[in-house]
Amino acid sequence: MAFEHLSSLPAADLQSLDEPELLARVKALPVPRHVAIIMDGNGRWAVQRGLPRVAGHREGVKAARAVVRAADAVGIHFLTLYAFSSENWSRPSSEVSTLMSLLERSIDRELPELMANNVRLRVIGRPKGVPTSVREGIDRVVAATAANTGLTLLMAFNYGGRDELVDACRALARQVQAGEIRPDEIDEDRIERTLYTQGVPDPDLLIRTSGEMRVSNFLLWQIAYAELVITPTLWPDFGARNLYLAIAEFQRRVRRFGGV
Ligand code: FPP
Repeated sequence: MAFEHLSSLPAADLQSLDEPELLARVKALPVPRHVAIIMDGNGRWAVQRGLPRVAGHREGVKAARAVVRAADAVGIHFLTLYAFSSENWSRPSSEVSTLMSLLERSIDRELPELMANNVRLRVIGRPKGVPTSVREGIDRVVAATAANTGLTLLMAFNYGGRDELVDACRALARQVQAGEIRPDEIDEDRIERTLYTQGVPDPDLLIRTSGEMRVSNFLLWQIAYAELVITPTLWPDFGARNLYLAIAEFQRRVRRFGGV
């Protein structure tokens, strides 16, 4: 989809708009259906303030809440947040356990607002390895919001892109072994239907905060044609305005999907 026929303000002009004006500008053009975010920089945000890293994660939860609201306001259908990667287990155990309980408590606490805003929570990642109480807490919110029809919030939790591809390969191999499909029936469509994200369109826009130029094992299959927006803003400082500016940047891009 190319938006060059539509007028988008230059980045510098958008910066000067206040939040409602910016939102109106962004909504006047097609918005991405699916936005995925690598929320990075909580630790640095805390260290810069002489605070423990977990203080950054706590602020990160507030930023996530603001961004879910903003995504809903702008009309995004799917928002995927990278909350805990399969590599994050290698952090100091005190940070891992604080992160686990923080995520568990936050999700539980958000249930009333998710319901009020018709948001549906889905989780992508391997359930195995996640502490039982955390898993049960998340499952409760997933079940409670399952019939909601507004924004779908996908939380990547104990998620790794390569793990996801390994799990898909295993599932397809089992189907072949059981004689349900032939190897040459495995195509892009079938792989997509075997991923954790089955039924979800690929992200149009991938945002990474805190300036790192990496994809860090996130949605490796799904981001094949995503537009990348990397901002130096640390995650706890990222809010509705930053999301709208990233979408405006997306709207200035010409997507070619490998064509001319
Ligand atoms: C990166 O900061 C963030 C994470 C490890 C993920 C945790 C995210 C949150 C707590 C936000 C809340 C999310 C939800 C869905 C409730 P970092 O520690 O890697 O920062 P650093 O690179 O500066 O060390």
